[in-house]
Amino acid sequence: MLNRKDVLGLRDMSKAEIMEILDTAKEMKKRIDNPALRVDELKYTSVITLFYENSTRTKTSFSLAGKYLGATVQDLGISTSSVSKGESLIDTGKTLDQMGVEIMIMRNSLTGAPHVLAKNVNAHVINAGDGSNEHPTQALLDLYTIMDYKKSFEGLKVAIIGDISHSRVARSNVFGLSKLGANVTLAGPSTLLGGLHQLGVKTTSDIKEAITDADVVMGLRIQFERQKTMSFPGIGEYRELFGINSDLLKYAKKDVLIMHPGPVNRGVELSTEVVDCGNSVINVQVKNGVAVRMAILKLLAKGGNK
Ligand code: CP
Repeated sequence: MLNRKDVLGLRDMSKAEIMEILDTAKEMKKRIDNPALRVDELKYTSVITLFYENSTRTKTSFSLAGKYLGATVQDLGISTSSVSKGESLIDTGKTLDQMGVEIMIMRNSLTGAPHVLAKNVNAHVINAGDGSNEHPTQALLDLYTIMDYKKSFEGLKVAIIGDISHSRVARSNVFGLSKLGANVTLAGPSTLLGGLHQLGVKTTSDIKEAITDADVVMGLRIQFERQKTMSFPGIGEYRELFGINSDLLKYAKKDVLIMHPGPVNRGVELSTEVVDCGNSVINVQVKNGVAVRMAILKLLAKGGNK
């Protein structure tokens, strides 16, 4: 069981904790496929989702994960809540604490917002993405997916390609993959590569070099919402220089996994042919996201240290 109060990032998570989540997720996945196996293990646990930024996958999969475990799950619709009247994050958290909420799942555009919430509430806090900092549950579902197909991380070449600078998914994956023994190469336009070379992984603007002999190729969306000015001349040029297409994938290993956290901008970071090809596990990632989030909810509710 996780001996921690919160899940805020993979930077501060040990390899043993990561493996415990992935092993538990394996059991949880059986319950998605076979509803007869579902047990109301979290019958007396109340969970709330607070999404200050939009989401389809993370919010819905957390909500379903809680329900599959029998928890009471409520969404605080931020736009219709008292946040719109100016209530602060800390006051919102303390208010929900008083209502008996045991697990708060938050996405926020501000780096460190979940850490502030976690310090001020009794509930467990799970980071569902904070600015460009971390998206730990996305990385955990990515790790689960890679482990499922490749069995071991040791020596795997993982190429993460796209808008690296603004990507919380890239950061969390770098922490997780490095701890488990994979070799990470980050690739994209030089204007979108800043900030991550300090983490000790390889960075390049040569996409062919990144893809050559890769076991895993992960595409990332360009996060226009986090850019004040355009970091490259236009979408057409980006697609031409950094878009992943079938021709480029010939340089990767034959059994390369194609991954993407979603939502995908088809025809920009990945061609439609690549999104839908036999090596693509993008839809599998979505299902694994429910299993991993079930595992985290269960491990925190049953063993988390408040
Ligand atoms: N991958 C991801 O975080 O997707 P959503 O924004 O749809 O939750």
